Amino acid sequence: MVEKTDLKKIFIKTYGCQMNVYDSDRIADVMAPSGYVRTEQLELADMVVLNTCHIREKASEKVYSELGRLANLKEHKKLEGKDFVVALAGCVAQAEGEEVRRRAPCVDIVVGPQTYHRLPYMVAEASTAKNLVLDIEFPTISKFDLMRSKLGSDNKDQSVSAYITVQEGCDRFCNFCVVPYTRGAEYSRPMVDILKEAKNLIDNGARELILLGQNVNAYHGVDIDGTEVGLEILINNLSKLGDLIRIRYTTSHPKDMSENLINAHGKIPQLMPFLHLPVQSGSDEILRLMNRQHTVKDYMKIIEKLRKVREDIVFSSDFIVGYPGETDADFRSTLKLIDSVKFGQAFSFKYSVRPGTPAADLPNQIPEELKKERLTELQDLIDKQQRNFNLNCVNLELPILFERESNEGSQISGRTPYMQWVNIPKNFENIGDIYNVVITEGYAKSLGGKIIKNKNKPTTNKEESRSQRVTL
Ligand code: SAH
Ligand code: SF4
Ligand code: F3S
Repeated sequence: MVEKTDLKKIFIKTYGCQMNVYDSDRIADVMAPSGYVRTEQLELADMVVLNTCHIREKASEKVYSELGRLANLKEHKKLEGKDFVVALAGCVAQAEGEEVRRRAPCVDIVVGPQTYHRLPYMVAEASTAKNLVLDIEFPTISKFDLMRSKLGSDNKDQSVSAYITVQEGCDRFCNFCVVPYTRGAEYSRPMVDILKEAKNLIDNGARELILLGQNVNAYHGVDIDGTEVGLEILINNLSKLGDLIRIRYTTSHPKDMSENLINAHGKIPQLMPFLHLPVQSGSDEILRLMNRQHTVKDYMKIIEKLRKVREDIVFSSDFIVGYPGETDADFRSTLKLIDSVKFGQAFSFKYSVRPGTPAADLPNQIPEELKKERLTELQDLIDKQQRNFNLNCVNLELPILFERESNEGSQISGRTPYMQWVNIPKNFENIGDIYNVVITEGYAKSLGGKIIKNKNKPTTNKEESRSQRVTL
């Protein structure tokens, strides 16, 4: 038992994707029994964890400049006679390993995304060790197994919209991507563990669950009897837990979009009509060079099928511009795809060379200037679509799940089924409520609206699924 006076403070800074956000919360969980409480103030911390992202060069470089600042802080703390443990976690830690010793000697611990459940032991070791404490294995026993009891019982996550990692790693090996190397081989958690964790989150106030995985629709966890189940079965079981109003999942690969999963969008009312389905490029030749294992036609077919089972579904995507060998015609094909799908939102990036990935060695790398030009043109188009989509929502009545307050409690914000933020002046609504709102304003990145149903109780799933059709 840790005495109150022994409590230490841990500051965790998160970079990268939602899976890192989830992992940072778990890092806080695993450190709690050793007496660490989370702080948002770096100066007060006894330990800092940088939970890092390696996806693009900029993301990785940011980490080293942050470590420079931490080295100074550590020196100051030392002069004051205070300990300060610096741990590097996440995908940069996994990719750089020993290299960190040379580039950032202030780091005490390097821990990969699959071994952070061992962090308490590493911290104990670091207090006496002269050298860097390093653990970047891909252990055969999954971190989830070791954290199971923790996640099953003590998780006090209070979010209305909560993340659950259901799958990790990736076997797709897109030629540009570091994820299969930093997160390792694909692994799906057993369904019963996920259901337990979900129940716990719902009991603590979650009304929306976002299922996470680097390639989440490749989910193939085991049921109690040992049979493998797909994501649609997991979602169906989650939908029966009660009090759960919304279910989403991210990120999906087009190749793993099974017929069963597509059909689930037409059957499960809690499954929201919004899907993030990265396509990366609208040129078949570039998709081939990327090793995406799907064509533009395959992608469009999936969109068509999903629209057939859930006519109001809205899509989001990821795009890479300036991939090696991308001609102007290839780039125009991407714009054409964007024009025909009409995305509700999308993320887009300049191709970033990642050493060790096959694309790094491809000929015809694109000059930085041209990448920049293409990115601006593509983002202008996406922004225009997003604004149009938001404007087309004006006058619609949409169910909004309220997630947070802002402006010192004068405003309350929630999301539409299509992931748009809606901000309204706070009146009687509470976080966790769901109300029908008539949309009165559409902006570039958000909506404004007026509550039209003054109810004490959240609206039901049936009402949720009755939201009106949006034109894109
Ligand atoms: N698992 C997800 C992707 C995770 S990475 C998926 O398959 O969609 C998130 C996004 O980062 C990718 O979709 C891609 O658009 C982008 N990305 C990955 N590697 C990149 C690189 N080397 N350069 C630029 N963008 C990259
Ligand atoms: Fe990376 Fe996603 Fe491709 Fe996997 S499917 S290699 S995570 S881009
Ligand atoms: Fe980045 Fe690792 Fe996520 S590289 S995007 S933090 S899986």
